[in-house]
Amino acid sequence: MLFLSNRVKSLAVPMTIEMTKKSRELQEAGHDIISLSLGEPDFDTPDFIKTSGKRGIDENYSHYMPVPGYLDLRQAISEKFKRDNNLSYQPNQIIVSTGAKQSIANIVLAIVNQGDDVIIPAPYWVSYADLVKFIGGNIVSPKAGLDQGFKITPAQLEDSITKKTKLMIFSSPNNPSGAMYSEDELKSLVIVLKKHPQVWVISDEIYEYISYGEKHVSMASFEGMKDRVATVNGLSKGFAMTGWRIGFMGAPETLARACEKIQSQFTSGASSIAQRAAIAAVLAGPEKVSYMVEDFTIRRKILANILNKAKYLNFIEPAGAFYLFVDASNYLNENYKTASDLCMAILDGGVASVPGEAFGLDGYIRFSYAASEENLKKAGERIITTLLSIKSN
Ligand SMILES: Cc1ncc(COP(=O)(O)O)c(C=O)c1O
Repeated sequence: MLFLSNRVKSLAVPMTIEMTKKSRELQEAGHDIISLSLGEPDFDTPDFIKTSGKRGIDENYSHYMPVPGYLDLRQAISEKFKRDNNLSYQPNQIIVSTGAKQSIANIVLAIVNQGDDVIIPAPYWVSYADLVKFIGGNIVSPKAGLDQGFKITPAQLEDSITKKTKLMIFSSPNNPSGAMYSEDELKSLVIVLKKHPQVWVISDEIYEYISYGEKHVSMASFEGMKDRVATVNGLSKGFAMTGWRIGFMGAPETLARACEKIQSQFTSGASSIAQRAAIAAVLAGPEKVSYMVEDFTIRRKILANILNKAKYLNFIEPAGAFYLFVDASNYLNENYKTASDLCMAILDGGVASVPGEAFGLDGYIRFSYAASEENLKKAGERIITTLLSIKSN
């Protein structure tokens, strides 16, 4: 008999990808499904970035590249950190990877031992928890619901830290809630962290450019934090480059070298052509892609206006990212015991979404509004129809 490892058997496929797969299968079978389940901008990569990638092909960037990424790309990222985040990471503190997901995996592998506690405030991005579980870490997950704007308090952080705590992972803007920590809120978390110098932090800033007016602040920019924070970012969301697979991190050099070693064994680094395209994006900065944020602002309003018609649904308009994370707990009953059950009913009604369980908070549902205005209007009406029928049963 041939057996797979226990490790892989315990690894889940992210529910976001599961739901998207399910909706694709239904679409292929002829069902009319609008997908609001995937975390991906529906824009194409801007032309100036594609041109830079094409130039990379013509200039024969077809050989193995330095494991941490091309030096000129890391220099551009170093400039980006200064320009946007008030952070001075030298190129030798920067590692380019195949997506922010790999950056996070590298860091978790480099930091966490079996049995270490890792604080992951809920709601959290699905893969943080699965990654930590995969390598035997122990998840401690303080919950931050709608009532507290999906942000943990300093007291919750303090209560979550033990002698075994090695790492905290969080994102701002947050996936799934879109919540952003203000400078003062981050500062109050920093005060707690300073009492516990053994705790590393991963600050996942992949949605940095997708925010609706609030100022984005990097955790590493607070005095004394740069030596213990890994700042993760990437091009997937802000530049509509999900398929190019480019993420990066800035970190203390010891951690950067550890991640380079891991990457040298796992992937050898990110695609050479994608890295050449990435230089144009990183140098351009947010202005060149602000039209996407303008569109997301309109779409956020469209979906919010329709879902406001559902009397028992509670939500706040998010400060960043492109998701509405709605509290649907008033719709739970004997027949629909979990948000997953509700999502299945909503899928039967023609809309794919992701249940809050995937993000560590039951009773919630995530709808992505990275979809066309027409589809958002149609999807919103379908969601309302399904919810009305659930309440009237
Ligand atoms: C919070 C968060 N971090 C990281 C990622 C991964 O991004 P990438 O495509 O760069 O791997 C995602 C993608 O959904 C995300 O939502």
